[in-house]
Amino acid sequence: MIKKGIILAGGMGTRMSPLTKAVNKQLLPIYDKPLIYYPLSILMLAKIKNILIIVNKGQLNQYKKLFPKNKNLGLNISFKEQDKPRGLPDAFLIGEKFINNSNIAMILGDNFFYGQNLSKLLRDCAKLKQGAKVVLHNVKNPESFGVAKTDKKNRKILRIVEKPKRFISNYAVTGLYFFDKKVVNYAKKLKPSKRGELEIIDLINQYKKTNKLSAEFIGRGGAWLDTGSISDYYKTSAFVQAIENRQGFKIACLEEIALLNKWINKKDILDSIKFYGNCEYSSYLKKLI
Ligand code: TTP
Repeated sequence: MIKKGIILAGGMGTRMSPLTKAVNKQLLPIYDKPLIYYPLSILMLAKIKNILIIVNKGQLNQYKKLFPKNKNLGLNISFKEQDKPRGLPDAFLIGEKFINNSNIAMILGDNFFYGQNLSKLLRDCAKLKQGAKVVLHNVKNPESFGVAKTDKKNRKILRIVEKPKRFISNYAVTGLYFFDKKVVNYAKKLKPSKRGELEIIDLINQYKKTNKLSAEFIGRGGAWLDTGSISDYYKTSAFVQAIENRQGFKIACLEEIALLNKWINKKDILDSIKFYGNCEYSSYLKKLI
């Protein structure tokens, strides 16, 4: 089982400026909670307890306010700073010590996933022993994403291309990845691309070369949403609002997941209620216990 996960939560958030001039994108709200709660909830649903959050240099204090040492989510959360956005594989260079020769999950801090059977899919992905696994989702505009051509039957990836100019498939590679321990060495071998960044597709292709790459699919009953542009960001927020208000269940309530995982108890929930203060999120926590 993969026991460690990285959330890459730096980046300039250029497309969302001026919102991101003073506040990191991952701390902005998606409806009723900070964006980072959503990718963190995904790792927790995969039963991953050891979490490294990589943030921009100078923004550590903001994150520590949200995740103070005495806040118990049943997790071991640690932080590292990235001094500038060198690309997604930089997560494995910054996180080398944390990874410490184990297999690792990585999720982008701005990625939103939701859907039926998602928890099972995540737990299955976390069973990875060797190679790499990417999570694919059908999109209308594959030219804007890293895209995989697959042999769906045996979940093999035949080709994987960044922003293909010519159509190869509608399967976008989402921002959730599972790698074996070789990932650090592969990341060390990467050279920056034309845009000056290390590219995750180049890293994934290292696994492809040795036939060690597989895929998991989020079907049409699931959602993978973008929060990168202002318009997509608000669409995601509206999606969360619609589901939560209809069902009365929260998406990405960290304490609820920790409680269901039996990582925390009633007292920890009461502490969280104190931490958040008198708000709607606290009322929801009260109902849980
Ligand atoms: P991007 O969408 O590539 O970049 P960004 O979020 O800074 O936004 P923009 O393109 O508008 O400038 O990043 C995807 C996610 O990965 C996002 O959560 C930020 C994070 N990231 C890092 O933490 N470090 C990096 O070096 C890069 C490239 C991204």
